[in-house]
Amino acid sequence: MGAAPGVRIPRGRSHGEVLIDGPVMYHPVHHVVPATPLRLTYEQGRLVNISGDPLLSGRLRDWLERLGDDGAWEGPVHFNIGINPNALTTQHPEWERVMGAVTCGMGDLSILSALNPGLESEVASAGVHWDWTTLRPTVMLDDVTVVREGIINSGVC
Ligand SMILES: [Fe+2]
Repeated sequence: MGAAPGVRIPRGRSHGEVLIDGPVMYHPVHHVVPATPLRLTYEQGRLVNISGDPLLSGRLRDWLERLGDDGAWEGPVHFNIGINPNALTTQHPEWERVMGAVTCGMGDLSILSALNPGLESEVASAGVHWDWTTLRPTVMLDDVTVVREGIINSGVC
């Protein structure tokens, strides 16, 4: 299926807004691509507002509120860039590998602290882990553009 290299994001670091135009897996059996972009707003490592696509924003907010799990609002906890030119946004989670897409996870990442003692305070813990993908991101590392509007910079790969 190919790789989606990425990094763990330490707690409390995310800040800003992201528009989600790819799959959102927010329930053990549900994933959906919003008809219009979903807008997620982050402050100090927490999701603080859900807007944009009327249907999905309402369903995602309702699901999170019903969980009653504070850790589910933490994140993103991981950041991955798809590099498989053959991956598709199908019903299979290969969407995380779609070339140039960015997938981020929310909520639980405690398996990392189980594998790496000492990370407990830096890793979110929750009863759920959920993911979102944005298909047309622009990603910069310092002053180097790694992905521009979903197209990977071939000069850095
Ligand atoms: Fe994830």
